[in-house]
Amino acid sequence: MGKVGVVLGSGLGAFAEGLRGRVETPYSQIEGWPVSTATGHAGKLVTGLIGETEVIVLAGRAHLYEGYTAHQTAFGIRELHRRGAKSVVLTNAAGAINVKYSPGDLVLISDHINLLGVNPLSGPNDESLGPRFPDLSDAYSREYRDIAKQAGASFGLSLSEGVYAAVPGPSYETPAEIRYLRIIGADLVGMSTVPETIAANHLGMKVLAISCVTNMAAGILPKKLDHAEVLETGERVREKLIQLLNNLIPRIAGSGADNRFSSSASP
Ligand code: HPA
Repeated sequence: MGKVGVVLGSGLGAFAEGLRGRVETPYSQIEGWPVSTATGHAGKLVTGLIGETEVIVLAGRAHLYEGYTAHQTAFGIRELHRRGAKSVVLTNAAGAINVKYSPGDLVLISDHINLLGVNPLSGPNDESLGPRFPDLSDAYSREYRDIAKQAGASFGLSLSEGVYAAVPGPSYETPAEIRYLRIIGADLVGMSTVPETIAANHLGMKVLAISCVTNMAAGILPKKLDHAEVLETGERVREKLIQLLNNLIPRIAGSGADNRFSSSASP
């Protein structure tokens, strides 16, 4: 059974609190952990168990808008891999571009559009970690999305899927940008997750990513975007998301991980 890595969006620390046999390590005590001049190094790595499944949690992530480089935003994923995680569950807050979603919905990311203008794999490639030109055609494991849907269904939660566009932020989008994102095929927009997904796929880790829809994207409703509202919605769905994570992580661990040599990818 593989270890499962988890990256928590802000406000989800309670998930890590619930792990059995919890051990916490502040990022500042992990060798090589990148420090942003803007934010210091808030956050911690937490290990523990859900049932019999070993879980390694990153509570607090690095965003480009904080001043980290794309390379630095992927450091945490490499740390999870070094510690034996073969798969990773990423969570984030996102704005809904697709009007079929409502604030409070949890959506499985099926694919992404990288509009960050940078890539965590640029620069020399470490061949011992992964290939120079990694494939991203099943970047968000089809198998894991199906497992997540089964996990949700087991307690009455139905999960839809969507394409996530990553933008650098920190300003929210303009209404014109949201119309553009809709035209190019995005259902969700956010400021994280994509560098981590790219780095994880490079390492041969399988990825599941769950967006919490915290708001309708700019220009969809006749009102301004408000970060307080984003936080509030995140808080409102926290319990549902934690329940989903607790239910799906043991299922993922039991499914056989590591993308690298599997032939089961069927997008
Ligand atoms: N845009 C970008 N990132 C976000 C949003 C949004 O509307 N909501 C939460 N994260």
